[in-house]
Amino acid sequence: MTVELKGGEASDIGAPGAADVVIEARAVEKTYDTGTVKVVALRQVSLRVRRGEMVAIMGPSGCGKTTLLNCLSGLDDFDSGLVLINGADIAKMADDRKTEFRARDMGFVFQTYNLLPVLNAVENVELPLIVSGTKPKVARELALQSLDRVHLRAQAGNRPAQLSGGQRQRVTIARALVNRPAIMWADEPTGALDSATATEIMDLIVDLNQSAHQTCVIVTHDPKVAARCHRTIHMEDGVIARENTQAEMVAAANGH
Ligand SMILES: Nc1ncnc2c1ncn2[C@@H]1O[C@H](COP(=O)(O)OP(=O)(O)OP(=O)(O)O)[C@@H](O)[C@H]1O
Ligand SMILES: [Mg+2]
Repeated sequence: MTVELKGGEASDIGAPGAADVVIEARAVEKTYDTGTVKVVALRQVSLRVRRGEMVAIMGPSGCGKTTLLNCLSGLDDFDSGLVLINGADIAKMADDRKTEFRARDMGFVFQTYNLLPVLNAVENVELPLIVSGTKPKVARELALQSLDRVHLRAQAGNRPAQLSGGQRQRVTIARALVNRPAIMWADEPTGALDSATATEIMDLIVDLNQSAHQTCVIVTHDPKVAARCHRTIHMEDGVIARENTQAEMVAAANGH
């Protein structure tokens, strides 16, 4: 696959080589049609994320952040444009292959990609492993280790209804981390958490990014979360309005 790189584009910060680009969107457009109104959620959105990069997406409510994440990760269809993950056009994948691809290579921390209420914490966490064919005994051990990382091993037998909102969020994160996916998508991963737990969760994500060279795309309203990412993309009304480097976001978070 050849990826055309235009010099000087904001999204080429760090000048990734073609082989380094793991997520690429070209002119993605998405309109929601509810029958009575049409809402243009994404207008010609193009971006590239390179392997091992942590990218934050920020912007006002309703500007299209969740829609972008859904379209990039193959959870939702779009009207025109192209999304390539590791060079593969996921819109063209058959549904079962897409499901397998997502279970094996992607982790999701989404508000709408929730825990299954009938399963307890450890069963929820091991689900992506089971889907991608890991032996049940191995899956259970890895799921318990993952719950350990978010300090919830003692709650392994609790169903979601028997956990607090923050604990549920941590189970979601344990599930997203369990198969050490190549790409992690997170939509407000710290939104429901107090600041100490939010910091811990970000520590986990940063650690995974550094140790496993995992690529992370994180939607956040929190400038402190963005300041821990390599790059921040700002969206406005369905378009990418501008980008900031980590140094700029750190300075902003420190009030400079
Ligand atoms: N299923 C849907 N049907 C119709 N319109 C939708 C749907 N989902 C989102 N929209 C609209 O698309 C636009 C973008 O929504 P989106 O959820 O991507 O915003 P967001 O940036 O994630 O906002 P927030 O920060 O509040 O989560 C909004 O105007 C929203 O009302
Ligand atoms: Mg959203």
